Amino acid sequence: MKSIFEDYFEGFNEYPSLSHDLDTDIAIVGGGVAGLLSAYFLSKEGFKVSVFEADKIASKSTARSTATLSCVQSPMYARLAKKNPRVHEYFESQKEALKLYREIIEKHNIDCDFETMPSYLFASNEKSEMKLREEYTAMREFTDEVDFVKSRFGHAIKMENQAQFNALKFLAGIGKDFGIFENTKIVNFILDENKLITEKGNTIRAKKIIIATRFPVILNNFYYFKMYQAKSYVVTFKNPPLGAMFNGAEDGGLYMRSYKDYMLLGGYDHRTGKHKKCADYYFNLKRKAKEMFGAKDEDFGDFWSAEDSVTYDDIPFAGSISKKHPNVFVITGFNEWGLLNGMICGRVVSNLIANQHEKFAELFSPHRKYCRKNIGSLLPHGLISAGSLLKAPFVKKRCSHIGCALKFNKIENVYECPCHGSRFNVDGKLLDGPAVKDLK
Ligand code: FES
Repeated sequence: MKSIFEDYFEGFNEYPSLSHDLDTDIAIVGGGVAGLLSAYFLSKEGFKVSVFEADKIASKSTARSTATLSCVQSPMYARLAKKNPRVHEYFESQKEALKLYREIIEKHNIDCDFETMPSYLFASNEKSEMKLREEYTAMREFTDEVDFVKSRFGHAIKMENQAQFNALKFLAGIGKDFGIFENTKIVNFILDENKLITEKGNTIRAKKIIIATRFPVILNNFYYFKMYQAKSYVVTFKNPPLGAMFNGAEDGGLYMRSYKDYMLLGGYDHRTGKHKKCADYYFNLKRKAKEMFGAKDEDFGDFWSAEDSVTYDDIPFAGSISKKHPNVFVITGFNEWGLLNGMICGRVVSNLIANQHEKFAELFSPHRKYCRKNIGSLLPHGLISAGSLLKAPFVKKRCSHIGCALKFNKIENVYECPCHGSRFNVDGKLLDGPAVKDLK
């Protein structure tokens, strides 16, 4: 399953696999948008930076993102306002990320199909319209850049000057004054000694380490209790350009954007491994495309799914991984807005490492306190993970990460882990971490 952005992209340069020991200033684990942008910022500060990617760079969550850059996101500001007084800072951080994209594209003259256009968060029924109105009221507390309007899909919050692009073309165009090692899987993290060990047995020594994988691929951390994995589905079909980006306000609602001659229609988000029995989300999306846009069977193109880490308080984590390991940093939990959050979190961690003032450091700090209201959203997901662990002795397929019972996804022919989202093919080969080993 390839995304449409891969179809219209010539590919990155080939990078070697690490086959020797290495000393570097900064070792970055994970060659997606957050890892590559952290490397970009830090190399500009004069650090010797090396990125280690288990597969090919930007071949997973980054390639499968819908590449929309919108500060109006799923209805999260109203929810956030109830439990976090920094809600306006999150909005500002997203605006800053979009500004950084514009600056980098201009600086390097990157041809990445970047288009400025409005973004809409729309309600398609009465229930979601109530939620939308709450969201609008919450947003107007800190910005006058949004309007409440009638869009082609229902009432909506509209924000001008948002953008969409091809993230792969963008990443190919950034200056790369840093080392990249592909097909280099890190299997052992010796954090007390700032050392990483690769699958081939090579040792990497670094002054600072950044773990920028979708889910932190280390075992001794508490991120398992702070995040869960969500999955979303996309189909494409030939359709005239929409001229705007649209996101549905209901949980698992539809979203749309155009790219080239196609429309991307996505939705049906759910916790990974918790799909409805027999549900064929691609079939459902195609049915919607036919009903809403008159698509015909011959119009359909690519289809794919994407995963992301979701935090219990709606804010990503970017900062030192734990107080015990101040030289090890983590970037994760983008809540399905990976391109804006990958950019801003990459900038935050880079500024922390370079000892530069960073205004969003506290907002994204992994050590921030959870307020009591977040515990309510934490519990149900914690129970799902605990249930999958308890079921493990009674099932044949157990995840190679920490042993949760795997679920088979018939539509994609893969095993998925409801605990932290690792995926394996039918032969047990690892497709996505945080597990680092194939199934036995
Ligand atoms: Fe953690 Fe499966 S991904 S137990």
